[in-house]
Amino acid sequence: MSTLTKGISMFIVSVLILALLVMIVLGFMLGFGHPLPWVLIAVLVAIPFIHDRIVSRRFVEWHDSYSVGIDTIDDDHKKLLGMINQLQTAAHYKTDKTSIEEILNGLVDYTQYHFTREEGMMRESEYPDFDEHKKQHEEMISQVNKFVDEYRIDGTKTIEEVAMYLKTWLINHINGSDQKYAPYLKEKHN
Ligand code: FEO
Repeated sequence: MSTLTKGISMFIVSVLILALLVMIVLGFMLGFGHPLPWVLIAVLVAIPFIHDRIVSRRFVEWHDSYSVGIDTIDDDHKKLLGMINQLQTAAHYKTDKTSIEEILNGLVDYTQYHFTREEGMMRESEYPDFDEHKKQHEEMISQVNKFVDEYRIDGTKTIEEVAMYLKTWLINHINGSDQKYAPYLKEKHN
């Protein structure tokens, strides 16, 4: 969501809340026994819950089905998902840019560290699709660096878009390519 879109949606929510408050006051002019103002109060109370549900959809949770059956790799994946959530939280609460940069740098660094560790294990296990897998890692790092530059330098990408790319890529990669090496690596590394 771009800053402009976010600003527009916040404006719409504010107008909605204001309109509800006015309608509640007018509704009570119909009498305290009239159901309309009470229904409107219920709608008003529900807004924060609906908002929280929409926001929580941006976050990612670990599921056992993501496991590749190797503890060190699973721990790396869990840590990366946690860091992506941290980035989403910082973006959502408009944390200062320096803190966002720190989280982002940490995430990119740990992703590279994880890829290096995983590639080492694949090499040791003589995994036959090693080259293809390594190529996917390299393409991802190159894409992330491009997006980070677009966020940092050009301002054409928002931090939410960068976090969304990282989240989608990582989940798809863990459930696709990483699962494929599991039978080869498990024997040697468990
Ligand atoms: Fe866990 Fe291939 O990255």
